[in-house]
Formats: sequence, C-alpha cells, structure tokens
Amino acid sequence: MLNVKNGLRTTVALVFAVFFSLVSWAEPAALASCAACHGSDGKSTDPAWPNLAGQHETYLEIQLKAYRSGDRNNAVMNGMAAALSDADIAELATWYAAQPRLTAANGDQTMVEEGRNRAGYCHACHGMQGAPVADEWPILAGQNAAYIAAQLAGFKSGLRYHPLMVNVVKDLDPTAMAALGAYYSQVPPAAE
Ligand code: HEC
Ligand code: HEC
Repeated sequence: MLNVKNGLRTTVALVFAVFFSLVSWAEPAALASCAACHGSDGKSTDPAWPNLAGQHETYLEIQLKAYRSGDRNNAVMNGMAAALSDADIAELATWYAAQPRLTAANGDQTMVEEGRNRAGYCHACHGMQGAPVADEWPILAGQNAAYIAAQLAGFKSGLRYHPLMVNVVKDLDPTAMAALGAYYSQVPPAAE
C-alpha cells in the first residue's frame, strides 16, 4: 500500500516537473528577432544596448508598448515593436524577466565612487541597491553603463519622457550621467 502511494506521488511529481519545465522553457516565437541584439538570455551583444535579463516584467511590457505606440523614440526599437502583438509582448516580457540577472560591471572604475555619491537621490524610486519595489519601474543594478548614461541624456533632451524622471535629470551633466552609469553597472544582481 505504502509503495503504491509513493509510486503515485512520484508520478504526480514527475508530471508537474515536466509540465513546469515545458512552460518555463518554451521560447516565445518572436524571441529569434530579438536575440541578435539582446541575446536569448537577455545579455546584450553591445554594451551600449540594454541588458534585459531579470528586468521587471511589467516594466518590459510597458516599454515594448511605448515603442510600438511611438511614445518612446528609438528608430530600431520602434521598428522591432511594430510587428509585435500584445501576446508576443507578454511572452517576451515573461521570458526576459525570468532570465538570471547580470552584473555588467563595464563602467569606468574611477567613476564608480562619484556615481555612488550621487545615487542618494535615486534610491527613493530605484531602491537602495538599484532594484525598485514597483514592477512598473526599471532595475538599474547590473545595467550597462553607457546605456544608463544615454537614457539619462534622453530624459534631459526630451527624446524620452516620464514625469518622474524629468526633475531627476535637470541638473545632471554628461560627467554625472556617466558616473551614475558606472556605479549602477557594477551593483550586484543579488542585492534587492
Ligand atoms: C538591432 C538591435 C536590436 C534588436 C533586434 C532588438 N533590440 Fe531592443 N533595443 C535595442 C536598442 C539599441 C535599445 C535602446 C533603445 C533606446 O535607447 O530607447 C533597445 C531597447 C529595448 C528595450 C528597453 C529596455 C529598457 O531597459 O528600457 C526593450 C524592452 C527591448 N529593447 C526589447 C526588445 C525585444 C523584445 C526585441 C525583439 C522583438 C528587441 N528588443 C529587438 C536594440 C535592439
Ligand atoms: C521619483 C522617482 C524616481 C527617481 C527619484 C529616479 N527615478 Fe529613474 N526612473 C523612474 C521611473 C518611473 C522610470 C521609468 C520611466 C519610464 O517608464 O519610461 C525611471 C527610469 C530610469 C532609467 C531608464 C532605465 C532603463 O532601463 O531604460 C534610468 C537610467 C534611470 N531612471 C536612472 C535614474 C537615476 C540615475 C536616478 C538618480 C539620479 C533616478 N533614476 C531617480 C523613477 C525615478
């Protein structure tokens, strides 16, 4: 009796294990069109481009919809997102959010300390260690330094708009932006 019960339990456990591994390993159909630049594991092939690995799922979804609608401007990504359905976007966001987070650590080490000193202002929204609580907001920890600096410049020039970032970038010059990028790129992923 005991053996039958154990056997049944093992079978049920196996069925669940196979089911969940299939669910989490099913690559989104559209992933092939992203992998050349962002990798299928979310590690971008160029340090000027954003890593997507372990980024917040809701944030990724919001950004892909913003590229699709034209609310966020980037010639490459506006083109890429135009072809995506809501279902594609949801699948891609789930996929990339599930990949293990990275430490990019490609910032200029001499700038890291300056960035750390300037990051006090960022903590309130992006978290003490670059990972905000809100799933709608981006994790900065481990993001590529050059990409972070470029986005800060974009918020300042108006190329990219979000009401909460407008005041943040007002007083940042290019050196400060580079320092903040250097700092956040080396914050380890384990820090929540
Ligand atoms: C030819 C290279 C290229 C391809 C292909 C590409 N991307 Fe991008 N992606 C970029 C670049 C460059 C940026 C930064 C754009 C900017 O400055 O707004 C970006 C930005 C993003 C962002 C914003 C990240 C953030 O932190 O805000 C997301 C999300 C994204 N891409 C997802 C995708 C997905 C999903 C695909 C496939 C459907 C894809 N990309 C295909 C180059 C690419
Ligand atoms: C009042 C809240 C708030 C503060 C303070 C704040 N941010 Fe943000 N930040 C946001 C929100 C919200 C977004 C998402 C914008 C969007 O959806 O386009 C964002 C986006 C960003 C992005 C884009 C990330 C990506 O993946 O594309 C960067 C880089 C960034 N912030 C850096 C900083 C830095 C550095 C500081 C401190 C100097 C800072 N932020 C302070 C709320 C804040």
